[in-house]
Amino acid sequence: MCCAVLLGGAASAQRLIRISTSETELLFSVASNGRLYQSYFGRRLLNEADTTRFLPAPAHNNGQEAYPGSGGESYYEPALAITHADGNMTTVLSFVSSETKQLNADAKETIIHLRDKVYPIDVNLHYVSYEAENVIKCWSEIRHEEKKPVTLWRYASAMLYLHSPHYFLTEFSGEWAKEMTPSTQQLQFGKKVIDTKLGTRAGMEVSPFFELGLDSKPAENQGDVLLGTIGWTGNFRFTFEVDAQGILRVLPGINPYASAYELKPGEVFTTPEFIFTLSHEGIGKASRDLHDWARNYQLKDGLGDRFTLLNNWESTYFNFDEAKLEHLMKDAKTLGVDMFLLDDGWFGNKYPRDNDHAGLGDWEANRNKLPHGIPRLVQAARTEGVKFGIWIEPEMVNPRSELFEKHPDWVIKQPNRETYYFRNQLVLDLCNPKVQDYVFGVIDKLMSENPGIAYFKWDCNSPITNIYSPYLKEKQNQLYIDYVRGLYKVLQRVKEKYPNLPMMLCSGGGARCDYEALKYFTEFWCSDNTDPVERLYIQWGFSQFLPTKAMAAHVTSWNPHTSIKFRTDVAMMCKLGFDINVDELKPEELAYCQEAVANYKRLKDLIFNGDFYRLVSPFETNHAAVAHVSKDKKKALLYVYDIHPRYAEPLFPVKMQGLDARKNYKVEEINRMPGNDLRSSKAPTSLQVYSGDYLMKVGLPLFTTRPTSSRIMEITEE
Ligand code: GLA
Repeated sequence: MCCAVLLGGAASAQRLIRISTSETELLFSVASNGRLYQSYFGRRLLNEADTTRFLPAPAHNNGQEAYPGSGGESYYEPALAITHADGNMTTVLSFVSSETKQLNADAKETIIHLRDKVYPIDVNLHYVSYEAENVIKCWSEIRHEEKKPVTLWRYASAMLYLHSPHYFLTEFSGEWAKEMTPSTQQLQFGKKVIDTKLGTRAGMEVSPFFELGLDSKPAENQGDVLLGTIGWTGNFRFTFEVDAQGILRVLPGINPYASAYELKPGEVFTTPEFIFTLSHEGIGKASRDLHDWARNYQLKDGLGDRFTLLNNWESTYFNFDEAKLEHLMKDAKTLGVDMFLLDDGWFGNKYPRDNDHAGLGDWEANRNKLPHGIPRLVQAARTEGVKFGIWIEPEMVNPRSELFEKHPDWVIKQPNRETYYFRNQLVLDLCNPKVQDYVFGVIDKLMSENPGIAYFKWDCNSPITNIYSPYLKEKQNQLYIDYVRGLYKVLQRVKEKYPNLPMMLCSGGGARCDYEALKYFTEFWCSDNTDPVERLYIQWGFSQFLPTKAMAAHVTSWNPHTSIKFRTDVAMMCKLGFDINVDELKPEELAYCQEAVANYKRLKDLIFNGDFYRLVSPFETNHAAVAHVSKDKKKALLYVYDIHPRYAEPLFPVKMQGLDARKNYKVEEINRMPGNDLRSSKAPTSLQVYSGDYLMKVGLPLFTTRPTSSRIMEITEE
């Protein structure tokens, strides 16, 4: 259903624009000067009549203009800055009209049209509000009819104003293998910027997510907190500016660094989506709302199934042949997982991919390792009764490759400076439509020749280095933006031709995890760091913004001092996979893994589509606990971890959340390790029944003082 309704006929209705969800209200109103201002952002207002109190908006100099242009009377960071064809650098936008479309029973899109009275510049602000999920996403479109191209040098996705006595910002910094480390600071007068300039990905040093605590630091279960993120698989920038009145201005967008964009007359510049949710019950509630929204609307196959798998990266690295892989397929079957995933190293002939110095770009199976090519592997997997998935890194090239020899002009590389390499590779020039065809062709050829391929792991191990596109010639300032748009064109083609093909997004760990890329991917790789202790922290971080079914977590041999049970129990809270040498497992360890996989499959609807609760933080204690609770509150899984507890520390019960206080629940431990039972002496040893009320108010004594031990409790309505 899609019906366009022009907001109200009455002048007052035209002058008030109300964007609301079940819990949040964003109001804009038009001032006497004809310009548009944000007049309220906060909790949903109950009485329609109260919203009209904001009419008309005050047209004062530093008013909260919805989308301020540069060179106006505001002295703060503008949302939009344009150098017009005549060299003038000012833009002042007036309100023209707005319209609202009901997209479905839950989602509504409001489009606000703005225009400069002096220059033929048009801006459309889009806001899609999701009533039930309490999420709003917004973006802008910029267009002009000047005689010659104009230059855009600021192009925020939107602008939001908050008004609170204090602001506390949590950002998520990191590095390879150290993703999503939160840190919180109080914002004072002036600017704080979070940005990256990595080109092919949003994150690495810092991920494209933030939390803003109003009044107090963002907390899990209480307080007003804004969670925001941007859907852009490239350079992003969040600017937080507290002005002289104490108003916080939030400006999310593409990072304009080295990206003054030339816009031709009639061409539309569409910014990425800024996605946010405002919670009055802390981060936990905001995360659950984002998860619901992502599953319902954004993540590829958001409500669908996911494959458990066995990957060969850590057990073989580049060193394998057909026999070894066929053995691993048998191992996948033995474990009980759905799929075998072949990783890096299967391609390249003139320049075999035997290490990371050669072969990227030559996507033909290596004849020495795989004399019968991919078809034999697909067939072998079918014989074992498992699916077959394969790793690619199609945006990249090693200089030692036939592709590079043939098409040196397809590579982003300086024409007149020494080349520097990130992991011995270079980035293909996706600004060039021919290169887009080639990258699409990598997947298309593999799929046409092997329709049995059930899954891709799409990697991207290098940021853009040697920033120069041979294709763009004198328009190098468009490289960062056109690269990402070229990537989306390729991904869109893949999605259209293979709509049901699940794919994992990987970027040397978790550097690519933004919500635009996730329209094309069913999951992403959180980190190359698979040490289960580290993963507890990394997964805690990512789960604040992304549903756990989208977070690939594998059981590996990192931190071999921990038990296979602990490693598996940590991966179980996300999208479970293995990357181990199954032959090295002791019989009881194998039996444990098989049982864990069977439990995971039995409970996957709860794990994939339930509500996620972070109960005890590893950042605040020596333990961690999280839970999935089904939407109907009939079933829950409680995951409990002891990390590095002290011998003498007092242990507190783990209190559940999200259950029905009036219901009774059976509580039973699953994933038990024969002969290695590490439960606390006070923990329920066998199936017991508790009220939801008791489980939430009193809790269960499930923590122990044993380092790296874990328990998973299945909780079922009686
Ligand atoms: C990246 C990925 C790993 C693995 C290797 C292969 O580092 O994050 O999971 O696929 O590439 O080279």
